[in-house]
Amino acid sequence: MKKIIVVVNQKGGVGKTTTVLNLATSLAMHQRKKVLVVDIDPQGNATTGAGIDKNDVEFSIYDVLLGNVKIRDAIVYSKSCKFDLIPSNRNLAVAEIELVNEDDREYKLKNAIKEIEHKYDIILIDCPPSLSLLTINALTSANYLLVPIQCEYYALEGLTDLLNTVKLMKTKLNTELKLFGILRTMYDKRNNLAQQVSEQLVEYFDDKVFYASIPRSVRLAEAPSFGMSAVALDDEAIGSEAYCRLAREVVKRLREIEQ
Ligand SMILES: Nc1ncnc2c1ncn2[C@@H]1O[C@H](COP(=O)(O)OP(=O)(O)OP(=O)(O)O)[C@@H](O)[C@H]1O
Ligand SMILES: [Mg+2]
Repeated sequence: MKKIIVVVNQKGGVGKTTTVLNLATSLAMHQRKKVLVVDIDPQGNATTGAGIDKNDVEFSIYDVLLGNVKIRDAIVYSKSCKFDLIPSNRNLAVAEIELVNEDDREYKLKNAIKEIEHKYDIILIDCPPSLSLLTINALTSANYLLVPIQCEYYALEGLTDLLNTVKLMKTKLNTELKLFGILRTMYDKRNNLAQQVSEQLVEYFDDKVFYASIPRSVRLAEAPSFGMSAVALDDEAIGSEAYCRLAREVVKRLREIEQ
């Protein structure tokens, strides 16, 4: 079964980590899925946001990519969010340099995930805001791409760059990679520009644009300071409800693809 979803956009601050944390929590808590989150961003925001002290983990994704440890030994459990996590921290920033001369440098994550994939229903990967070797590792490992987009002027330009990279990936590193969906984040339906960009997205990507969109929500922004996702903190907040709708859509889409 194909179940590895990479949440990616090389643009910073578009809601990748917020999406990973809240989607993963909702899948685990409400959809009863066994979920693994892989944090492959040296910022370690998904790790911190899941209530794990990123500077106090025994092993991290860095050790996994460098082959210092088996991936199963790097897994920690987020009690607040109810999913398993491969944590990340600043150590990861040097991994790219250390891996640069290795022949299988683009396949490090894929080869590691293979060992534990069977234990999970869904695996979500949180990427850094770049198209670096770390992101390439995530794209090589994944079956599907989930792209959070903030509906503003430059959003479509960035999306074109991303999809060109994916096209390149498909010819070489991962021929199976498919666009799973585009998610409108921090979306304000009353804002004209946001509405226009949203219309363009739907025109171009049709039903690949998730029906669920994520509004601005204070709860989504403040939850990480409690070491939990908004869905875990307050599942009735508007942002949490939006991510729960997304989780239902994701499960439905996966089921439909399977058939
Ligand atoms: N729907 C939302 N409503 C309010 N605030 C949000 C929302 N989504 C994200 N944020 C806030 O916007 C900021 C950026 O979000 P987030 O960290 O998820 O983006 P990112 O794409 O992972 O960033 P980076 O590229 O740095 O990894 C954070 O402070 C987050 O709390
Ligand atoms: Mg992030």
